[in-house]
Amino acid sequence: MNRIPVVIDVDTGTDDAICMTAAILNQDKLDIKAFTAVCGNVSVEKTSQNTLDIVDYLGTSYPVAAGASKPLVQNITFAISHGSTGLGDVQLPTSSRDFLPDPACEVIYRCAKEENGNLEVLATGPLTNVALAIRNHPDICSLIRRITIMGGSLIGGNMTPVSEFNIYNDPEAAKIVFESGIELVMVGLDVTLKPCLPTEVVEEMNKISSPHADLVRRIFSFMQRRSAEFGGDAPNLHDVIALASIVAPKLFTMKDYYTTIELNGALTRGMTVADFRNVSEKAPNVHAAVDIDIDGFWKWFIAVMRSSDTEK
Ligand code: RIB
Ligand code: CA
Repeated sequence: MNRIPVVIDVDTGTDDAICMTAAILNQDKLDIKAFTAVCGNVSVEKTSQNTLDIVDYLGTSYPVAAGASKPLVQNITFAISHGSTGLGDVQLPTSSRDFLPDPACEVIYRCAKEENGNLEVLATGPLTNVALAIRNHPDICSLIRRITIMGGSLIGGNMTPVSEFNIYNDPEAAKIVFESGIELVMVGLDVTLKPCLPTEVVEEMNKISSPHADLVRRIFSFMQRRSAEFGGDAPNLHDVIALASIVAPKLFTMKDYYTTIELNGALTRGMTVADFRNVSEKAPNVHAAVDIDIDGFWKWFIAVMRSSDTEK
C-alpha cells in the first residue's frame, strides 16, 4: 500500500501529543512530511516547542514549522485542561533543532506542491494555518487530496452549547476550509467523546518499553489526575481518533452532509452547521464521522503502541 503523504497541523496539547506518537508509529501507512504548529491549547511558542520536543524525544527528526500566533479575527482562548505548558506536568528535554524557517502556512503549501495533489492534511487544532495557506495560495485547493479535521460536532459543543474548541477558536478559518472545495473529513465530538480512556489501556502502557509508551503513560497520568480534579469522566483522546480515521477507516461510520460554519450568531458562533435533510440543496462537502467502533479503536491503539516495544 502506498504511504499517505501528510502534514500534521497541531496545537500540542496533551491529546495532540498522543496523536503525534501514534502517527509516528504508523510510518508504514503515513509519509509525514512535516508537523506544523498553531496557537490553540496554549500559545504557538509553546505548541511549536512542544511539537519539536516530542519529535526529538521519540527519536525522529521530522521538520517542524511554527505557525499562526492568533486566529484570523478574534483573540485566542487557551485551554486550561492541558496545563500551562500544554503538556500538563510532562517535562521533555528541549530540542536543540531549529524550526523550519518558513511559517506553517507556507510549509503546507510547499508540501502540497511537492506532492502533486496527493498531500493530505491532518488538523488537530484551530484551522488558522490551513486557512492562511488557502487564502494566500488558492491554487492549493487542487493540490490537497483531503483534509481530516479533529473539530466541530454535529450535535453539541464543548466551549459553548454548540461550538467545539478548535472551531470556536477560529470560525473564520474554519469557514475558509469548509468552503474550500477540498475533500473534508470531520471527526468531531460526536465520535471523539465516545472512547473514554479505560484503566486497562493505561495499564497496557506499563507493559511496553519505549519512549513512545513512556510519553503516553505520563500524559495519561496527567489526564487522569486532571479528570479527577475537574470531576469529569475518564479522559477523551480526541486528536488520535482523527488520525485513526485515516489509517483505520473501518472503525468509523461516516455520513456526508453540506456543512458550514456559523460566524454571526450570538449563541451559535463557531457552530458547525450540518444540513441533515439537505434543505439547502447544496452538495455535501463533508464526510462527517457519526459513529466509532469503540472497542476496535482501543484494540487498534494498543496494537499501535505495542509496535514500539523495544523488548518484544
Ligand atoms: O475539542 C477538542 C480539541 O480541542 C482537541 O484538539 C484538543 O487538543 C483541543 O485542541
Ligand atoms: Ca488539539
